[in-house]
Amino acid sequence: MKAVILAGGNGTRLYPVTMTLNKHFLPVYNKPMIYYPLSLVMLLGIKDVLFIVNPGDLENFRSLFKDGSHLGMNIHYRTQEKPNGLAEGLILAEDFIGNDNILYLLGDNIFFGNDLIGLMENAKAEIEMNGGSYVFGYYVKDPHRFGIVEFDEEGNVISIEEKPKKPKSHYAVVGMYFYDNKAVEIAKSVKPSKRGELEITSVNEEYLKRGELKVKLLGRGFAWFDAGTHDSFLEAGEFVSTIENKTGLMIGCIEEIAYNNGWIDKDQLVKLAKPLKKTDYGKYLLELAKS
Ligand code: G1P
Repeated sequence: MKAVILAGGNGTRLYPVTMTLNKHFLPVYNKPMIYYPLSLVMLLGIKDVLFIVNPGDLENFRSLFKDGSHLGMNIHYRTQEKPNGLAEGLILAEDFIGNDNILYLLGDNIFFGNDLIGLMENAKAEIEMNGGSYVFGYYVKDPHRFGIVEFDEEGNVISIEEKPKKPKSHYAVVGMYFYDNKAVEIAKSVKPSKRGELEITSVNEEYLKRGELKVKLLGRGFAWFDAGTHDSFLEAGEFVSTIENKTGLMIGCIEEIAYNNGWIDKDQLVKLAKPLKKTDYGKYLLELAKS
């Protein structure tokens, strides 16, 4: 399985903050927003990642993550000329994906939960064994903002709609999608929505029509943030700070994960930590290298 992280878009819902800055570099507490989705890919043991970015941000992304070898990874980049929608990301990623299955993540989505990785591993195994698609639902108060799934009494998915005016449920589809290789062809067949975008929800709808969409609900104990608005951005930062300071452990610390995965050695960890040594982030990494 390969991972694609969509980190384009104009971030208009964070204006004026993002008029000149890409939102994915903004700090969610003590690290750039984009570290969080990347850390999930790494926790799942996936080394091959493609970032889809705006042309104007390519240089900054490259200087942040380079080719990924300092983390023991292979990081690639493609540009999305205009924010034409999330499904376009799959089309742009076609040659990177090749014949593989796909984990598709949105760069502004932040997840936290005790057995999150266990759930992701199950989704990955399901796709690798049986194909199709596997997504997650999360209860939200404001369903008109998201892709929304409706269930029948037995818990089967009966519909999925993007930003419905009259939502049929309170379950949003979060920005973490597991797909088999067909997703690229399906994305190519998607027609632009009323807002003029190729919606990822249309890809999911096609899988649903084929009887190949699995939705797993993230229940109690999971926190999910779409950090793309002022309030949710602040909320995500406060959440990360509370958890990290209470537990003494970091969320989304990519250097720590690379080290724990055995993708980098102690010397490399210290090398990465040194420029950060004035911060608690750097001190945390140096402490880790001692253990
Ligand atoms: C996108 C998707 C939506 C999904 C949401 C999750 O919305 O279109 O289906 O529920 O991400 O963050 P957007 O952020 O483009 O408004």
